[in-house]
Amino acid sequence: MSDGDSTAEQGLSNLLHEERRFAPSPEFAAQANARAEMYERAAADRVGFWEDQARDLSWDTPWETALDWQPPFAKWFVGGTLNVAYNCVDRHVESGHGDQVAIHWEGEPGDTRTITYADLQREVCKAANALTELGVAKGDRVAIYLPMVPEAVFAMLACARLGAPHSVVFGGFSADALASRIDDASAKLVITADGGFRRGAPSALKPAVDEAVSRTSSVEKVLVVQRTKQDVEWHEGRDVWWHEVVDRQPDTHAYEPHDSEHPLYILYTSGTTAKPKGILHTTGGYLTQVAYTHKYVFDLKPDTDVYWCSADIGWVTGHSYIVYGPLANRATQVMYEGTPDTPDRGRLWSIAEKYGVTILYTAPTLIRTMMKWGEEIPAAHDLSKIRLLGSVGEPINPEAWVWYRRVVGHDETPVCDTWWQTETGALMISPLPGVTTLKPGSAQRPLPGISAEVVDDRGEPVPNGGGGYLVLTEPWPSMLRGIWGDDTRYAETYWSRFPGRYFAGDGAKKDEDGDIWLLGRVDDVMNVSGHRISTTEVESALVSHPKVAEAAVVGATDPTTGQGIVAFVIVRGTVGEDEAAGAEIVQELRNHVSKEIGPIAKPRQIMIVPELPKTRSGKIMRRLLRDVAENRSVGDVTTLADSTVMDLISAKLPASA
Ligand code: WTA
Repeated sequence: MSDGDSTAEQGLSNLLHEERRFAPSPEFAAQANARAEMYERAAADRVGFWEDQARDLSWDTPWETALDWQPPFAKWFVGGTLNVAYNCVDRHVESGHGDQVAIHWEGEPGDTRTITYADLQREVCKAANALTELGVAKGDRVAIYLPMVPEAVFAMLACARLGAPHSVVFGGFSADALASRIDDASAKLVITADGGFRRGAPSALKPAVDEAVSRTSSVEKVLVVQRTKQDVEWHEGRDVWWHEVVDRQPDTHAYEPHDSEHPLYILYTSGTTAKPKGILHTTGGYLTQVAYTHKYVFDLKPDTDVYWCSADIGWVTGHSYIVYGPLANRATQVMYEGTPDTPDRGRLWSIAEKYGVTILYTAPTLIRTMMKWGEEIPAAHDLSKIRLLGSVGEPINPEAWVWYRRVVGHDETPVCDTWWQTETGALMISPLPGVTTLKPGSAQRPLPGISAEVVDDRGEPVPNGGGGYLVLTEPWPSMLRGIWGDDTRYAETYWSRFPGRYFAGDGAKKDEDGDIWLLGRVDDVMNVSGHRISTTEVESALVSHPKVAEAAVVGATDPTTGQGIVAFVIVRGTVGEDEAAGAEIVQELRNHVSKEIGPIAKPRQIMIVPELPKTRSGKIMRRLLRDVAENRSVGDVTTLADSTVMDLISAKLPASA
């Protein structure tokens, strides 16, 4: 292993001691959607198993070939046609569920909207008609930069209905990040809002769009949702209000079926280089797997459950488990605009109580924050309806898992730790609730239909008890179909490390039962509060500042966010000694990164240092910097070109570092 080594090994030794087990209760098992036989059925005929799952959807034309696999390119349900929006909306209205609530939306200031499936159908049809009027046709790309408002769902489904791939950009990303994503996909339309409410105040979005669009050439129109009513700059001829254009449209729209392999969306994610990768997902296979996993892992009962995934729509979790999976399964769900501590730290629990949430899907970083805030806060709310909990985004430490189950799941609910990625599109490794005996901290087994392995450096499967790299050994329906515009990078990034197998970039171990424990990234990707951020991306943001000569960034273990970003910076000669020693330059650089990438990438700590540790071939040894960032004694320095560099760095640092 390369640089991820030390972190992965520490995780391994911590996890080896976890021996608590939680068998499913007979009551839960008796009513569970999942059955143990699913594993055998899928193992006996994997592709046939996926065909059975695909039959849960409504197809306009049946497929001819279930899987066409020309490594590393897969096509699923070839020849089949369907419409994703029809599957997520219209078919539920047609089957008599138009009055069922699709979305209980809660704005941060406390305003609410209730959207039934019939409402959703009308809104999606109006939005599809409006997009057509604005010149969007099948195949055109649409960028969506919105807060957590229902229009985000309407917009995504309207794009899906038309076959215009969307590229949702997280509202917390900067104008720069937005511009590069608009540019890479040549988006024709941007859908945004004046702003959204965060931490009790309106937070503007439109200025970032104005700046981004001014730097790109493909955008023709900007469709603006009015949410906060804050002032916006208006570009006549380019900008149009949602309430003026969408609201006057007819509320019916005849959909066109799309090819199973028609692009559904592009979603950018950080890789090991500075340029984010546009992960491409398509139609039939993607919808099949998000619906299947949502039905069995979250045990959804559409007539009685109230489901809540607390992710933002700007991440893949929001795509697959707020929009496509739950809506394909006719879920009733909660959607919340704001932060968990507005107006107070009980906000999530008061929302869960108010709507009678039964299934909750959230991230370890949030669970650890709740632990820190104290269990009396959830205890003050009636959470008795909760019957299943899910976790995603990073390894969940056993203590957080046990706390989550005890405090939120009243000591009885299953907790499913779900491992997957933007690239996999849908859940891949997770317990099956009602079937699996749970182990806190382990995602356990590949789901029925999924084939995964843990391999060593040479690609050989490790024996039980061993550790190595996680790989996926067979294609799966919701797998990425490529990186937008860059097939070579796709093949190199994922399929070259272990030829014929998908390299996930995660370290993992197999325990004595063969269950999988994820150990974090083994590449230069950090995981901060469940968000993937590349060290290279932050480094290049830092060196774009005129005062910076060189920068190295590491992810240091952080008790709340999983990892925190720590940057080591060499300033240019033009910066005086006093300035370099002061707090101001650090603040200036932190703000610069925030402006370049977005607040989520703001380093926790920046250390101004005289040198960086490098090997003789010039590669920065992040392992040593991580030792410094995590307050450990510095490891083996013998491969450094200059072994005194670490002393120089340590001498320059404040005593706390
Ligand atoms: C990490 C989020 C351990 C992992 C859905 C992966 C996890 C990256 C888990 C993908 C989990 C996600 N246990 N690690 N249950 N879930 N990860 O693309 O490192 O934002 O490669 O997708 O998050 O992050 P992404």
